[in-house]
Amino acid sequence: MRSIAGALLIGAVLAAPSVALSRSASAGALARFVALTSSTAPGLGNETMTCEECEAVIAEVANAIQSKDAYDVVQAVAELVCIEGKGGFGYSCGNPWACNDLCRGITSLFTPEILFIAAHAALDPERDCTALGLCNASTLAEAPILRAAPSFPSAPREAGTTIKVMQITDLHWDPNYTMGARTDCGEPDCCRGVQGMATGSETACGYWGDHAGDTPTVMVDSMLAFASGLNPDFVMLTGDYPPHMVWNVTAEAVVDVSLAFSAKVKAAFGGTPVFGIAGNHEGAPINQFRLELDGEGSKRLFAPLADQWGGFGWLDASAQSQLARGGYYTTLVPGVKTTDGRPLRLVALHPAYHMKSNFYTLLDQSLDVANETSWMQATIEQAAADGEVVWIMTHHPTNDGDYSDEFMEGFFAPLVAKYRSTVRHVFSGHTHKSMTQLLWANATNSSVLEPAVINYIAAAPTPYGGVNPTFRMYEVELDTMEVVDYVDYTVDLRAQGLLQQMTEQPAAEWRASKPARQAFNMTALQPRDWHVMAERMRHDDALFRTWEVSYHTNNTEASNFSPKERLVRVCDIIGGTKRLNKACMEGRFNTSLPAGSA
Ligand SMILES: *[C@@H]1O[C@H](CO)[C@@H](O)[C@H](O)[C@H]1NC(C)=O
Ligand SMILES: *[C@@H]1O[C@H](CO)[C@@H](O)[C@H](O)[C@H]1NC(C)=O
Ligand SMILES: *[C@@H]1O[C@H](CO)[C@@H](O)[C@H](O)[C@H]1NC(C)=O
Ligand SMILES: *[C@@H]1O[C@H](CO)[C@@H](O)[C@H](O)[C@H]1NC(C)=O
Ligand SMILES: *[C@@H]1O[C@H](CO)[C@@H](O)[C@H](O)[C@H]1NC(C)=O
Ligand SMILES: *[C@@H]1O[C@H](CO)[C@@H](O)[C@H](O)[C@H]1NC(C)=O
Ligand SMILES: *[C@@H]1O[C@H](CO)[C@@H](O)[C@H](O)[C@H]1NC(C)=O
Ligand SMILES: *[C@@H]1O[C@H](CO)[C@@H](O)[C@H](O)[C@H]1NC(C)=O
Ligand SMILES: *[C@@H]1O[C@H](CO)[C@@H](O)[C@H](O)[C@H]1NC(C)=O
Ligand SMILES: *[C@@H]1O[C@H](CO)[C@@H](O)[C@H](O)[C@H]1NC(C)=O
Repeated sequence: MRSIAGALLIGAVLAAPSVALSRSASAGALARFVALTSSTAPGLGNETMTCEECEAVIAEVANAIQSKDAYDVVQAVAELVCIEGKGGFGYSCGNPWACNDLCRGITSLFTPEILFIAAHAALDPERDCTALGLCNASTLAEAPILRAAPSFPSAPREAGTTIKVMQITDLHWDPNYTMGARTDCGEPDCCRGVQGMATGSETACGYWGDHAGDTPTVMVDSMLAFASGLNPDFVMLTGDYPPHMVWNVTAEAVVDVSLAFSAKVKAAFGGTPVFGIAGNHEGAPINQFRLELDGEGSKRLFAPLADQWGGFGWLDASAQSQLARGGYYTTLVPGVKTTDGRPLRLVALHPAYHMKSNFYTLLDQSLDVANETSWMQATIEQAAADGEVVWIMTHHPTNDGDYSDEFMEGFFAPLVAKYRSTVRHVFSGHTHKSMTQLLWANATNSSVLEPAVINYIAAAPTPYGGVNPTFRMYEVELDTMEVVDYVDYTVDLRAQGLLQQMTEQPAAEWRASKPARQAFNMTALQPRDWHVMAERMRHDDALFRTWEVSYHTNNTEASNFSPKERLVRVCDIIGGTKRLNKACMEGRFNTSLPAGSA
């Protein structure tokens, strides 16, 4: 099941000049290794590897680092192989300039990281390819048939006092966005002047943005001006500040963009509390994070963020020092308490201690990397003992395939299920889509599962990849600290005629979606209501169409109304972890409702 891109690369190696030929194994290995990581960057292709290929790659990388001039050789040859392979990575770059730019950039950013990891890891092809999820990955398929307890919709009731909580995620700001640059630049992310200017108006990136590029500065400013006018009680930023040009974004640029955006948020929101985390794009290069507390990762990213966010008054001293040490922290939200006096605690996680695409995890495959799981467990246990309410912030949704099973299925999901009366919600981004997922718990004294905790996933301000610029506002009932409704604020680029517009006016307009409860005809947003809603969507055509369009932030052209897509959307909601999602897709998770309940 060799991929086309893999075959291209191998063909390229064979066709390469003799200098390349002698080193072809390590170059091909590196290029394919990079492909693996690039495939998790939206738009950079669908590259996958077989177990055998992976084991060969790891063996070759282990070999390549024995050579004294490993860096120069691997870099030069990988670049050449990539260029000859016209990009590889499951993506064909559209012209020679694009191939050169993409290949030079990605190999120069990844070569030092991969050689560092290879040099510091006692690489073991079988063990490491299992850790990367490429070998022995099929055990989940053998899970037994699962059954859900029947859910009934909540009885309608008036929410008590509510507060407004905003989530902005996956900004992907490109400060180098250039109006008039070409949308068909031949690389996976366009709209920069250096990639070439458009020759006709149909292929020009507009003033307010384009689906071929990331968020222009004017759009960032427009969003913040509008969003701050909505006066949220507090704001959550859930990661991914830099653009998708992963072959060009340097470690410095990641930090620069993140700090510059935070400064804009501070200027717009003044004294409103704001809580941030990093996403996988804050890795350098993408997805790559060191594992030590107080180590290089802290120096590079987390300490600068903690300094700035602490200085803005967003984090107390303890949260600031936790963030600086290891990228994760906990804090109470100042001024927010339930009517019976329970405070709201945020548990903010590091983006990549448990992600297979973070190759540094090959250096430490224990569950408790950087003490994060012991800390998380102790924090939630303490919060439960103190009668607090907990919200978890994590960049990746809980069913993201990149989480190690040991972490998500073996630790996170059971922990959240156990403390379901303390952990109210999980908030994520990463998908750029407007979504919801359910985490389940074992019903008391029974083998069935019941819906327990909702993971809310918000869409993104970037129009990249066909969605519309969006951020989200939740209405939260103070009594329970539960989301009782939410609204997505969107600029519908096509509907407003903004694509290819070369002038500031007409200006982008942020418009509210229908509130979720009204849009999806739900009496409440309890876990069981989402279970009922997902089951209803299996046969209610109008509901499915509404959800699918909302999922794509109002872009009907990106929406797909096929039966396959419908099953995927139903299982998105039902299957809040990979195991449940897979069981749902394969019809092995019986979540059917009693007749008449939906
Ligand atoms: C990824 O795969 C899908 C179908 O398998 C295909 O339609 C799509 O074009 C591929 N994307 C890229 C960037 O290769
Ligand atoms: C990023 O692009 C700029 C402008 O084209 C170029 O000067 C720089 O070398 C590129 N950096 C990388 C790492 O590709
Ligand atoms: C992977 O599966 C093979 C064959 O079932 C088995 O021999 C091997 O021990 C497994 N490796 C790991 C690391 O689990
Ligand atoms: C924008 O371009 C400048 C000049 O090439 C570069 O230094 C900077 O890193 C770029 N910003 C991002 C986010 O890539
Ligand atoms: C790890 O976490 C536990 C629980 O929060 C804490 O008691 C311990 O001090 C932490 N260890 C380190 C090295 O930070
Ligand atoms: C439910 O119980 C099973 C078997 O006791 C256990 O393996 C599983 O982790 C539990 N599920 C959750 C979500 O706690
Ligand atoms: C579960 O079983 C225990 C022990 O048999 C019993 O005391 C308890 O009442 C049961 N709980 C429920 C909700 O049925
Ligand atoms: C979504 O599209 C519909 C139909 O074009 C339009 O009426 C509505 O205003 C749009 N919603 C937003 C939030 O832009
Ligand atoms: C909303 O749901 C109720 C019952 O749950 C149903 O009677 C009604 O027809 C639904 N309305 C729409 C627009 O789907
Ligand atoms: C699903 O479970 C229900 C009971 O909740 C049962 O009536 C139904 O037959 C089951 N369906 C399948 C396909 O197993």
